[in-house]
Amino acid sequence: MSLFLKALPLMALRPRPSFFFLCRAIPRELSTTRTFSSVSASIQPSPTSAKPFNESLQWVSRTSYCGELSFNHVGKQVRLCGWVALHRVHGGLTFLNLRDHTGIVQVTTLPDEFPDAHSAINDLRLEYVVAIEGVVRSRPSDSVNKKMKTGFIEVAANTVLVLNSVNSKLPFLVTTSDDAKESPKEEIRLRYRYLDLRRLEMQSYILLRHEVVKLIRRYLEDMHGFVEIETPILSRSTPEGARDYLVPSRIQPGTFYALPQSPQLFKQMLMVSGFDKYYQIARCFRDEDLRADRQPEFTQLDMELAFTPLEDMLTLNEELMRKVFREVKGVELPNPFPRLTYAEAMNRYGSDRPDTRFELELKDVSDIFSGSSFKVFSDTLESGGVIKVICVPSGAKTYSNSALKKGDIYNEAIKSGAKGLPFLKILENGDIEGIAALVSSMDPTTRKDFIERCSAGPSDLILFAVGHQASVNKTLDRLRVYVAHKLGLIDHGRHSILWITDFPMFEWNDLEQRFEALHHPFTAPNPEDMNDLASARALAYDMVYNGVEIGGGSLRIHKRGIQQKVLEIVGISMEQAEAKFGYLLDALDMGAPPHGGIAYGVDRLVMLLAGVHSIRDVIAFPKTTTAQCALTRSPSEVDPQQLKDLSITNVD
Ligand code: AMO
Repeated sequence: MSLFLKALPLMALRPRPSFFFLCRAIPRELSTTRTFSSVSASIQPSPTSAKPFNESLQWVSRTSYCGELSFNHVGKQVRLCGWVALHRVHGGLTFLNLRDHTGIVQVTTLPDEFPDAHSAINDLRLEYVVAIEGVVRSRPSDSVNKKMKTGFIEVAANTVLVLNSVNSKLPFLVTTSDDAKESPKEEIRLRYRYLDLRRLEMQSYILLRHEVVKLIRRYLEDMHGFVEIETPILSRSTPEGARDYLVPSRIQPGTFYALPQSPQLFKQMLMVSGFDKYYQIARCFRDEDLRADRQPEFTQLDMELAFTPLEDMLTLNEELMRKVFREVKGVELPNPFPRLTYAEAMNRYGSDRPDTRFELELKDVSDIFSGSSFKVFSDTLESGGVIKVICVPSGAKTYSNSALKKGDIYNEAIKSGAKGLPFLKILENGDIEGIAALVSSMDPTTRKDFIERCSAGPSDLILFAVGHQASVNKTLDRLRVYVAHKLGLIDHGRHSILWITDFPMFEWNDLEQRFEALHHPFTAPNPEDMNDLASARALAYDMVYNGVEIGGGSLRIHKRGIQQKVLEIVGISMEQAEAKFGYLLDALDMGAPPHGGIAYGVDRLVMLLAGVHSIRDVIAFPKTTTAQCALTRSPSEVDPQQLKDLSITNVD
């Protein structure tokens, strides 16, 4: 009996013979066959089939993991389980790489000493699942692979057991050579996500996510006494600004649950209950248009604290993020985080989530052009608009006039809603070139002031946006980020993390002709601005990392009267408020403590920590850009009877 067999604690599912019986049955078979199937078949034929059922299920315990073998194991007999990652015959020997969740190790054969193992390995194919027992030995110096963590050793196999084979054509290779340029198309990866996730790269992202969440839990629970509390998934709509996913009720025909866009109101009510420090790794659902950093179903780190003033809230969260970045990325974030008010961020960057790893700040030049004879500018200013610019260093050399009139950069401006892209170039000799009418409209003082305001030098390019403040900011924000990426102006060694504070409570929705809450309507107004709530600043804060909003929160209104007033401003009448959020208003009336909180997008945070561009890469089973699950093919049609049970009829 081989060592392997003596040691194998095996279990076969069908039939389930005793351990003793298996051990006696296996030895001769194992040394001559590559699978245990015939063994099981010989034990007892399948009761459901006339033919002997030729399959069985086996479990093998491991002594070691592939990626953890090292020089320390040389000379030791080990048992590994994993997938065949690479298979090649070379100089009469067969080599394979065996992969498990820890990494890859090379397995080789000794044809003279263990001919059965050698022939078994010869017959293996990529992604077969095997148990291999053998002796760890150091590799000859000429076959050391320095790129592999285990590249100094290999396992010489003496026993091989096939636990499962691959019987379908693999849609893509799980292990590709290091220099492989083509990665499988995302569509295919998502369809066969279980295979995609078998790739070590994808495993590293999912494990990173696990590490981040673990760290967060340790910090909140062990260092600050937070309690994790689950809130309902089947609930009522929460106003976070997106469309709800609805679930019809069978028991209450014609009524619907809404999946939570966030646990906002429940966490506030937990504060009223006196839990003091709540958190949850909470699944949220928003039916909105998808982007690279958005999913319809995503995960928040959701927090709420009672009796915690704003400064303490920000400090606690800064410490959390410093810890995460330090322990996961080895990056020391600033202490304290820089802060920008919303107004300053919009003025300087045209965005409330600016990436400050590069300059390209927006300059308002409206005053310089007041009284300009250039009609586009004078009309804009007369109608209450603004003229703002960004100055692109050496951009006059990089961008030809035709690129600026019809190339990618022009298209970016148009996509942002601009009607055109006015520009000026500063020539080497200091002259200005560009739209003739604009250039000729500028007298020497205007030129001087303009160049000074833009801090422009020879060869710089100045891009204009004109119109209403909001649209001008939108265009220049887009151009700023586009140009920075294109011209390599981003210092990737830098980490831009900051708070945006002092958001306005409300913004005017032109389309609907009403105010809407910029954050959400449960955000507290700044006590200094109580006299004019409609234009008050909110006690809200967003955390922004490298131009991406990773978290956002606020102190909340904890008094019913103020809450009702705010709801009124956003057009929700007393009656509607009662009907929609009566339960919250009641709770505010029954001893609600001052409280506030924040929620982070866990997927976004991990995406940024992993350095990947798509949120889908850090979610095990994400939705496609068309909000579908390519693997299970959801959403899907349902049985008409199910619709009937739910009292739903098709409406065209
Ligand atoms: P907010 O709506 O700002 O706040 O959401 C908090 C954070 O969640 C992330 N996020 C998303 N991530 C992936 N896909 C999405 N579709 C998506 N939408 C949002 C962002 C965002 O910063 N209840 C409040 C929080 C509070 O006030 O405490 C809320 O949900 O990173």
